Amino acid sequence: MIAAMGEANELGANNELLWHLPDDFAWFVKHTKGKPVVMGRKTMESLGRPLKNRLNIVLSRSAVTVEGFVGARSWEEAFSLAKHWLEEKLALASDAEGVVLESEIVAADNSSELAGNTAKNLDENGDWIARKNEIMVIGGGEIYKQAMDFANRLYITQVNACFTDADTHFPTIGNTWKPVFGKSHEKDEKHSYSFEFQVFEKNL
Ligand SMILES: NC(=O)c1ccc[n+]([C@@H]2O[C@H](COP(=O)([O-])OP(=O)(O)OC[C@H]3O[C@@H](n4cnc5c(N)ncnc54)[C@H](OP(=O)(O)O)[C@@H]3O)[C@@H](O)[C@H]2O)c1
Repeated sequence: MIAAMGEANELGANNELLWHLPDDFAWFVKHTKGKPVVMGRKTMESLGRPLKNRLNIVLSRSAVTVEGFVGARSWEEAFSLAKHWLEEKLALASDAEGVVLESEIVAADNSSELAGNTAKNLDENGDWIARKNEIMVIGGGEIYKQAMDFANRLYITQVNACFTDADTHFPTIGNTWKPVFGKSHEKDEKHSYSFEFQVFEKNL
């Protein structure tokens, strides 16, 4: 899952985000591009248009007819669509490169193997390496709450401020989650708040 939240887990208000943080947007793009993203119907409405270079899956109990979004009436259907898309992508990549990439999908699912060795997860700048084949749950509040039980990695941007007008919140990150990455970002002329990029993995 990937989310940005305030100090009291605030996510949004009136179906909009609470901040404009360009470097957080870049982090979001880095960790979602080329992947299936799963969102709730209200988050789809908040986005307004599909995210480029991603399969945009929308959970809704009604039909989704907005161009560029694919509807799913259950998590089972959402995961089936996502896995099918990833498999097609891997097949195309292996045709093009003459290599078998199935191992990557296994690695992406097998987060516990990575949890113990944070150094392996970092690039030469000390940034968290983008995985290729994760299914990314991108919100909002209702969807995050449901996915906490089965998600295996959290990408959290912790914004250092409180937002009293928020009407949507991220669930509590309990001690089943182990922090495996953290990097601070200062407040500056483009960012009204300081924040920290964090990654958590399930403490199995
Ligand atoms: N800060 C962040 O990182 C972040 C990220 C994303 C969103 N947000 C914010 O979060 C807010 C939206 O969140 P939200 O909690 O109001 O709504 P949401 O989680 O985006 O969407 C809720 C909708 O999803 C559908 N749904 C939920 N569970 C389902 C299931 N199991 N099967 C099928 N459909 C299901 C239902 O749609 P139907 O009613 O159509 O059935 C439900 O009304 C906005 O303020 C947005 O800006 C913040």
